[in-house]
Amino acid sequence: MTVRVGVLGATGAVGQRLIQLLDPHPEFEIAALTASDASVGETYKDAAKWRVNSPIPEDVAGLEVRATDPDSVPDDVGLIFSSLPSSVGAEVEPEFCEAGYTVSSNSSNARMDEDVPLIIPEVNADHVDLLEVQRDERGWDGALLKNPNCSTITMVPPLAALDREFDLTDVRVSTLQAVSGAGYSGVTSMEIIDNAIPHIGGEEQKMESESRKLLGSFDGAEVQLNEMDVAASCNRIPTLDGHLENVWADTAEDISAADAEAAMESVTGIDLPSSPEKLITVFEEPDRPQPRLDRNVEDGMGVAVGGFRETTDGVQFNCLAHNTMRGAAGASVLNGELLNKRGYL
Ligand SMILES: NC(=O)c1ccc[n+]([C@@H]2O[C@H](COP(=O)([O-])OP(=O)(O)OC[C@H]3O[C@@H](n4cnc5c(N)ncnc54)[C@H](OP(=O)(O)O)[C@@H]3O)[C@@H](O)[C@H]2O)c1
Repeated sequence: MTVRVGVLGATGAVGQRLIQLLDPHPEFEIAALTASDASVGETYKDAAKWRVNSPIPEDVAGLEVRATDPDSVPDDVGLIFSSLPSSVGAEVEPEFCEAGYTVSSNSSNARMDEDVPLIIPEVNADHVDLLEVQRDERGWDGALLKNPNCSTITMVPPLAALDREFDLTDVRVSTLQAVSGAGYSGVTSMEIIDNAIPHIGGEEQKMESESRKLLGSFDGAEVQLNEMDVAASCNRIPTLDGHLENVWADTAEDISAADAEAAMESVTGIDLPSSPEKLITVFEEPDRPQPRLDRNVEDGMGVAVGGFRETTDGVQFNCLAHNTMRGAAGASVLNGELLNKRGYL
């Protein structure tokens, strides 16, 4: 049965990608769109400055933008996708959950809450049952599930492949992140053209904590964080889409560059409509992956890796993913598909 869905923050950079992915979608149908008070009452095509590389879907263009409030969303909406600024999400998402809506959210609020599942379905789908604990503790009829930060999503699938076989101990990562990661009003052209900005507020901490939760173990009651040590340094550069990351991964077990490559090469997607056939694409050329050439690997839902070499205690490699697709909207849609498959909708 088709699930009617709502999108909160539908006019933003991630919201527009959500619209692109949801119209059409084999399981979901768009029923309600919300944004800030400045957009409420306008048609979607007037409120959203459409910047996605496919035409605005005709049946969405004329929808009226609603207030971001549970009372303004029809009762028959079975799933809400949230791409609100985190400060707004922190306030509004619990209200939707309390009102009985199930929310698959991009926003960074609550990602590390002990009873909130943080999920990349190909990595830790089993953590979704933390929702049972959440419902018991919060008394919500609805539920809240999160996808991680876009820079975290880029490195965790390759790290998961290494951790499974070689047991990660220390991870160091330096990022080169695209401007779309900051949203439409995030970085001005005067700041970023001919420049690189060696600070993205809060991003390092998100990569350090979220990766340990994603690679942690769930025992039916709580998630034990992975014990590996993670340190990140995040940089904004003038690319449009696609976060490139240089990763140093130390392991407890002996590992060679060829071992690391083979571990990642063997990772497939899972049985959900938006999961790619090949989750990780390995490039042999030492100067790949590159944002402009490789961000659309597997229609933007894959992770590209390359540049493997051995280090004293592990391996170094580079990875890349499309930040608004695999790193945000696609990640949320995939989590919605997981909720549907597991009977949470
Ligand atoms: N961009 C990425 O690559 C990325 C990746 C991962 C996670 N995220 C997260 O996803 C969320 C959205 O990011 P974005 O890049 O799409 O941001 P954005 O382009 O700034 O869009 C924000 C959206 O939220 C709406 N909004 C703003 N203030 C609001 C309020 N007070 N009440 C209701 N709606 C409000 C905006 O509506 P108006 O158009 O009416 O202002 C717009 O639809 C953020 O939490 C971000 O951290 C982004």
